[in-house]
Amino acid sequence: MKTLIVFYSMYGHIYQMANAVFEGVREVEGAEAEMKRVPETLSQDILKKMGAVEAQQRMSHIPICTVNELASADALIFGTPTRYGNMCGQMRQFLDGAGQLWLNDALVGKVASVFTSSGTQHGGQESTILSFHTTLLHLGFIIVGLPYSFHGQKRVDEITGGSPYGASTIAGGGGERMPSENELAAARFQGKHVAGIASRLFK
Ligand SMILES: Cc1cc2nc3c(=O)[nH]c(=O)nc-3n(C[C@H](O)[C@H](O)[C@H](O)COP(=O)(O)O)c2cc1C
Repeated sequence: MKTLIVFYSMYGHIYQMANAVFEGVREVEGAEAEMKRVPETLSQDILKKMGAVEAQQRMSHIPICTVNELASADALIFGTPTRYGNMCGQMRQFLDGAGQLWLNDALVGKVASVFTSSGTQHGGQESTILSFHTTLLHLGFIIVGLPYSFHGQKRVDEITGGSPYGASTIAGGGGERMPSENELAAARFQGKHVAGIASRLFK
């Protein structure tokens, strides 16, 4: 049972969350986990202007995903930073390349889940995940979120990401805040939850 974690991260927040998702998947007996990045669409020049070059280098050992690889996994967990309340353009471009898979029903019945990151607390985490789900439903995925049995999403004693739709983190306006312990626990929970459901489904 293979779970593929497919993400884009500009400054490393989603990457940290992806690592926690990976750990969670690995907690399920017999579950194989793999992490892949979607291809970059911005030039080095633009990335430099956005102050993202160093962070990109820290992720450079993670292989780039091809759309056809989506069909080789039983479960897919997508990670994307918010862009105006939606998935980032890199992820959109990647998924727009999955037309042949859609045409051939290649992803129908697989399990999928989404986690995200935003700059501000109310900057569109829920809309990013929910609008991502539309694409996943077109492709025929069975969508899994982050149930309230992850109790950390009920916390009000500290600012935290995480909702029934999926794990999330708040990066701060300048990207200065990295995922908290609670947010990483949510990501771990989501990875384990998705892999657990997928392994029961595909037994
Ligand atoms: C073009 C652009 C649009 C963005 N739109 C939003 C937004 O709508 N709401 C928000 O809270 N943050 C927004 N952000 C901030 C990013 O979501 C934030 O940098 C990201 O979550 C950090 O995760 P990463 O380090 O994994 O890329 C935007 C950033 C960029 C560059």
